[in-house]
Amino acid sequence: MLQDKIKQFTEEIKGFAPTSAVDVENFRLKFLVAKGIVKGLFEEFKTVSTEEKRTLGKVLNEFKLLAEKTYSDAQAQFAQTKKSLQREEGDLTLPGEGFQLGSRHPLSLVRKEIVEIFKKLGFIVAEGPEIEDDWHNFSALNFPPEHPARDMQDTFFVEKKDGNDIALRTHTSSVQVRLMEMGKPPFRAIMPGRVYRNEAISARAHCFFHQVEGLYVDENVSFADLKQTLFHFVQELYGEGTKVRFRPSYFPFTEPSAEMDISCTICKGEGCQLCKNSGWVEILGCGMVDPNVLENCGIDSKKYSGFAFGMGIERITNLKYEIRDLRLFSENDVRFLSQFETELV
Ligand code: PHE
Repeated sequence: MLQDKIKQFTEEIKGFAPTSAVDVENFRLKFLVAKGIVKGLFEEFKTVSTEEKRTLGKVLNEFKLLAEKTYSDAQAQFAQTKKSLQREEGDLTLPGEGFQLGSRHPLSLVRKEIVEIFKKLGFIVAEGPEIEDDWHNFSALNFPPEHPARDMQDTFFVEKKDGNDIALRTHTSSVQVRLMEMGKPPFRAIMPGRVYRNEAISARAHCFFHQVEGLYVDENVSFADLKQTLFHFVQELYGEGTKVRFRPSYFPFTEPSAEMDISCTICKGEGCQLCKNSGWVEILGCGMVDPNVLENCGIDSKKYSGFAFGMGIERITNLKYEIRDLRLFSENDVRFLSQFETELV
């Protein structure tokens, strides 16, 4: 009985000619699973006489090996066709390959946020060149000829030219000049961009960084307008209730000049490492456009007045994300960069 069965199934296996992976799987289900034929025959083997066992044991083992080999050969054959299919035509049944989306650089995110706030107030966005001449970066902005800021220490000079050296701009205030030279008041513009200074690179200083410049020139613009605009900006950026204070300062191109502090965003004024226990952090320089600057740009300073401000985007970003080392912004370390928002635009 058992012998007949083995013979019959051996014939069946020998004649096995699969035409698809489904046939191969059906073979496995029929012969090789726990309740399959091979196991079944081994169960039956336990019941036969010792005499029969002697002869049938070998036959049964051979049958088992045949079934296993037939299966693994057939499996290999169809794996092969599957692979070559993928290579040649692409297997349309495979799931799609996902790809990792990039994320926005934190400085881009913050620049965009700053620009959006001012756009809502009617400011246009303007840009200027990063390689600038002395006139736009310094002279037109009322820097006296021997002013220390023109010194080699701060400025990367590109080319010496009689009285109008070419340099990498040291601030975005140069764009104020370009804008005013080009048009007629009123001006209401926000000007983001990269600036360069000849500084040793450390956690707190870098040889390039980013600024956003603001300029508002019209008839009767006053310091009250400056204060109110910047106050509004801070409430939008850091939330209602953020306090501001203005401290007198000096810039050649504004008079009077001020620096603006906000109540520390980390400790809310309690005092922490970031604000050096003062409760305040400086975020920008500002002032009323010096009449000399207006005149240098061909604007009647008797008729028009204006305010300007400039802030470092890195500084604002550090406050927002509590980043303590400026170098992170330009090292392109994806472990740092991938922590920021992904925008699907
Ligand atoms: N340009 C100044 C700086 O780089 C900032 C500033 C801009 C100050 C406009 C006043 C007005 O520090």
